[in-house]
Amino acid sequence: MKQPLTAVPSARLFGRTGVPGDKSISHRALILGALATGVTRISGLLEAADVMATANAVAALGAEVTKSNGAVEVKGQGVGGLHAPSAPLDFGNSGTGTRLMFGAVAGHDIEAEFTGDASLCRRPMGRVLAPLTTMGLQTVGERATLPLVVRGTRDLLPISYDLPVPSAQVKSAILIAGMHAPGRTTIRESLPTRDHTERMLGFFGAELTAEEHDDGARTVIICGDAELQGAEIAVPGDPSSAAFLIAAALICPGSEIVVEGVLTNPTRSGFIATLREMGADIEELDRRLEGGEPVSDIRVRAGALKGVNVPPERAPSMIDEYPVLACLAGFAEGETRVEGLSELKVKESDRLAATAAGLAACGVEARVERDDLIVVGRGEVKGGGLVATHMDHRIAMAFLTLGLGAREAVTVDDASMIATSFPNFAKLMTKLGAEFR
Ligand code: S3P
Repeated sequence: MKQPLTAVPSARLFGRTGVPGDKSISHRALILGALATGVTRISGLLEAADVMATANAVAALGAEVTKSNGAVEVKGQGVGGLHAPSAPLDFGNSGTGTRLMFGAVAGHDIEAEFTGDASLCRRPMGRVLAPLTTMGLQTVGERATLPLVVRGTRDLLPISYDLPVPSAQVKSAILIAGMHAPGRTTIRESLPTRDHTERMLGFFGAELTAEEHDDGARTVIICGDAELQGAEIAVPGDPSSAAFLIAAALICPGSEIVVEGVLTNPTRSGFIATLREMGADIEELDRRLEGGEPVSDIRVRAGALKGVNVPPERAPSMIDEYPVLACLAGFAEGETRVEGLSELKVKESDRLAATAAGLAACGVEARVERDDLIVVGRGEVKGGGLVATHMDHRIAMAFLTLGLGAREAVTVDDASMIATSFPNFAKLMTKLGAEFR
């Protein structure tokens, strides 16, 4: 059932808070933990519906997942040690869980049915099935969308693959499958995508090299027949969740907040870089390394923003932050042109269309030109609209954030999907001074 929620124009936000664990790292910790030998202990795991779907899938494939002293433990089965599930694996709303798990199942002599909710069943799986079938995964039937039955093999072949789309999910699925194949599996990406799988594989003891080229492209090579050793993983705060708090503080006059322990991996930092270009008052405090990933406390103060051009090559490093950036652009002075957004069309919803429609509903002038979004900033936003979220958690949170800084309250038609990535979104925002009803 749909759960509408309204964000009320709010006074200043003030205070310090953490955010839940990073979603990308949480999925990877569960899946690689299942493929390691021994126990992997994960602290700060994101306990949201998407990650719980992956935890259930990992358990259904034979790796026991338990909670112990505030952390989550995965009893690894070793590379190649997963079992056939006795029921379909239901990934809910999660594209990341689905695509990474295709890579894990590929190297096992098992059959598994993958399914999910209406949004996930519309999303393209051909991008991950194409390289994995070259390696030896079989699909039953011709479909390239869920529900789908796949059959893995112990005789997977290594491949050399140029990613046709800049997708960390596709890269990660191939890397995970590549661990099960003999020899070297090579992946080239023309734009660097998030590198958590590479970092975590190295941390678990896999043999892997990553080379950056002068033109910004990257080559990643994983050596097959890998052995992973269970490890302790501390999951840092999710920058894609922090983005909503940061944005709210920028547009509610007089705000000053600190978001603690946020992942600042350069492959995820495009949003902060863009905000700086817009003139935002943002500081990274106490930079440190936690569990092999860079982390900072981020201090934000409200202030004037100006429109900017966001180049297409920045897309992978802020792909999930575009809806909230577009909302912020309405509060800036001048036009913001965001280029190269084709991948936004295949997220939990068509985010390019949903963002443009949401902006129009809130009185912000915006237009889509091919794969670009142009937002006309007027220094303030009227609000007052009803925004259609299309089963998309980030569309819901982006427009609730906009409502906090607008002149009139903004209602989203369904806030229930927020539980997929940031269940305590409204609670944390309220603690800082935001108002919802
Ligand atoms: C993710 C990669 C991105 C991102 C998604 C999480 C990941 O998708 O949008 O929310 O954890 O690898 P693509 O890799 O398909 O762009």
